[in-house]
Amino acid sequence: MMETPLWVQLANLVAAVLFILTLKGLSHPKTARRGVMLGALGAAIATFVVFFSGIPTDNLILILVAILIGSAIGLYAARQVAMTQMPQMVALFNGVGGGAAALVSVIEFLENPESSAIILAATVFTVVVGSVSFSGSIVTFLKLQELITTRPVIIPLGKYVTILVAAATVAGAVWLVIAPATWLLVALLVLALIFGVLFVLPVGGADVPIVISLLNAFTGLSVAAGGYVLGNVLLIVAGTLVGASGTMLTRLMAEAMGRPLTGTLFGAFSATASGPAGGVDDRPVRSGTANDVAIMLGYANKVILVPGYGLAVAQAQGTLRELADTLTEKGIQVDYAIHPVAGRMPGHMNVLLAEANVPYEQLKEMDEINPEFGEADVALVVGANDVVNPAAKTDTSAPIYGMPILDVNAAKQVVFLKRSMRPGFAGIQNELLFDPKTTLLFGDAKDSLGGVVTSVKEL
Ligand code: TAP
Repeated sequence: MMETPLWVQLANLVAAVLFILTLKGLSHPKTARRGVMLGALGAAIATFVVFFSGIPTDNLILILVAILIGSAIGLYAARQVAMTQMPQMVALFNGVGGGAAALVSVIEFLENPESSAIILAATVFTVVVGSVSFSGSIVTFLKLQELITTRPVIIPLGKYVTILVAAATVAGAVWLVIAPATWLLVALLVLALIFGVLFVLPVGGADVPIVISLLNAFTGLSVAAGGYVLGNVLLIVAGTLVGASGTMLTRLMAEAMGRPLTGTLFGAFSATASGPAGGVDDRPVRSGTANDVAIMLGYANKVILVPGYGLAVAQAQGTLRELADTLTEKGIQVDYAIHPVAGRMPGHMNVLLAEANVPYEQLKEMDEINPEFGEADVALVVGANDVVNPAAKTDTSAPIYGMPILDVNAAKQVVFLKRSMRPGFAGIQNELLFDPKTTLLFGDAKDSLGGVVTSVKEL
């Protein structure tokens, strides 16, 4: 094997360090932007190194065209995507990564069918895990984009079909290592793709992002194994980092939703296909005007703001901050309560409020703020629903049962800003909306908050 030139080794080392610094940067909103830039720089160095160290020149035009098309699609997608659609974009990009790793290994297999057993095993691992990640991620994308139902899809005898396909995939993988054959590789690829679809179809609703994170970890592992096949150290490092961080994020998200990972992945096999009702409830509620809400807030001592997905939809983070500032100027204590899975992606509320330059010290995590709701005169819920739904504690049949929630019902008064009586992501009604101490201010959160700010200023 040819000795790797020193400049390549050094550049790889720099890129690997940049990837590690990226993860470190991403662990805090203040440093996240720098983290992303470092990651992009690391990826650029890695691409540069691969390009200038032994690329076969006969395919140069093809490679350049592919780089151009890929970069254009990536740039366009990243600029167009709304923050609320970020999880599906991550799913799509992740799937493409897994698919690419699988394809690279297929090519390696076809070019070097006589490889050692260990290289063959790594190749087969990449093909299987990369393909599962590809087809699984495509299904999660379709679900989150609502191109197919977001509910769990239960196919007849699905559990047994899935077990059968999984067993056939494992058997095929072992067989392929023992007796390499192209037809077997193709069969394995197809089986792994089918398994990816069967694996994700029964997962529904709020659990889909957990699966995206898990598939992300899968892609990382397949890329790392692909790096071993290609003898590329940087791919091993980057893939392992993605695999490890994806696994940790999966665990954290499952914990935040109060669900064991096995329940998320396999729960639907034992459930019925119907899922939660999700209809619109027409029981009477107490609704108020912006002025009513302003009076409640203006005469309070302590107000807790509870942002949720609707704040992101309405892009009302700036107006919420304006309200917080106005109340603070009047001597009212204001805090933001941050639920770990409010919104649609990890850290969604932190990022959103950081956009509005809300001082980080005002954001209080769930465990810290929950004991304070009892002292709050008003809990103002802006576009949140599931994360404050007491059914998570009381209704064992609710899909969110077991998820820790923000205890807004302990506040003296609760105000919900939402547009209608439609339920949140989990599709279940929130009894707190019908509580006598709850007031609803209907309308787009930005308009409602704007009205409240004007009225508070006039008090
Ligand atoms: P949801 O339960 O989805 O509730 C959002 C609320 O915002 C709804 O009540 C909706 O009611 C309202 N809303 C939407 N657009 C609005 C607008 N323009 N103006 C005012 N209100 C608006 O959100 P949540 O409480 O943040 O909970 C998050 C849910 O998503 C959880 O179930 C969580 O498990 C799940 N999830 C979380 C993640 C992560 S990692 N954060 C990822 C995926 C899913 P109207 O339609 O009546 O306005």
